[in-house]
Amino acid sequence: MSERIRNLISINDLSGAELERMLKLGEQIMEDPGKYSQVCRGRKLATLFFEPSTRTRLSFEAAMIELGGSVLGFSSADSSSAAKGESVSDTVRTVGCYADIIAMRHPKEGAPAAACRKAGVPVVNAGDGGHFHPTQTLTDLLTIKREKGRLDNMVIGLCGDLCFGRTVHSLIEAMLRYPGNEFVLISPEELRVPEYVRMLLNKAGARWQEVRKMETVMDKLDILYMTRVQRERFFNEEDYARLKDTYILDREKLKAARSDLSVMHPLPRVNEISVAVDEDPRACYFRQALCGKYIRMALIMTLLGLDREVRI
Ligand code: NCD
Repeated sequence: MSERIRNLISINDLSGAELERMLKLGEQIMEDPGKYSQVCRGRKLATLFFEPSTRTRLSFEAAMIELGGSVLGFSSADSSSAAKGESVSDTVRTVGCYADIIAMRHPKEGAPAAACRKAGVPVVNAGDGGHFHPTQTLTDLLTIKREKGRLDNMVIGLCGDLCFGRTVHSLIEAMLRYPGNEFVLISPEELRVPEYVRMLLNKAGARWQEVRKMETVMDKLDILYMTRVQRERFFNEEDYARLKDTYILDREKLKAARSDLSVMHPLPRVNEISVAVDEDPRACYFRQALCGKYIRMALIMTLLGLDREVRI
């Protein structure tokens, strides 16, 4: 009998134990990547990106290559048959004949969830509209674990576009699983987290607050997770122009922060972190980008059932 196909559409598709195991595997790969260099030999990953990406797509591809596998795919809807009017279902059903696992990004919320019903191989949501981005969350969790040594009892500031920023939604959901985490949501009125995220926070009984200015909370934070204003999800350019530079983290603002603060950002950055901050040891966004490759290696192995062959 064939085993059930595993997908990753939302971070909640993973149990606490699976998450733990994947983070451990990610760290092990990071420490000794050579040991895993042939694990996916003969396997293929397809990256179907209907929306732009640098880190997510390339880290998926680098992950598969470093596991000894190969990659195929497209990086924009224009270069696929979507431009001719093909449905996502038909594209995915076809690609399922060519690849062993699919990573898919799409501007429509729910597209990867619909796709996984047709693919016949594991599908990973690499970002669907303003909805979810579970592999960024895995990246963020591995980064926090490495930077802080724990995932609980932290004061986490999330700043910027908390309305359309899908990485924020998935990260809050994940961090609610660990006890004692407190959330400080820093955004302009128009870019507050959606109602369903507020409900999740309340349901979990977490401590959380919404503020407008980062200066007022800077000294309390263990983590400051910056995000860009998501221009592509705005209805008009004037609103974007008005809101885009609401927050710019610079060296001056960091003076009020703790010495053990971790500044994170899923990237790409536009203007919200001054480049002068990059040299500050508290800036960990490029280390975060590196974690993205290792955790995706662990994810690919897990979804293909190859993690059972190594001792974790
Ligand atoms: C994020 C995304 O695509 O949601 N980027 C990423 O995957 N690293 C954040 C963003 O685009 O602002």
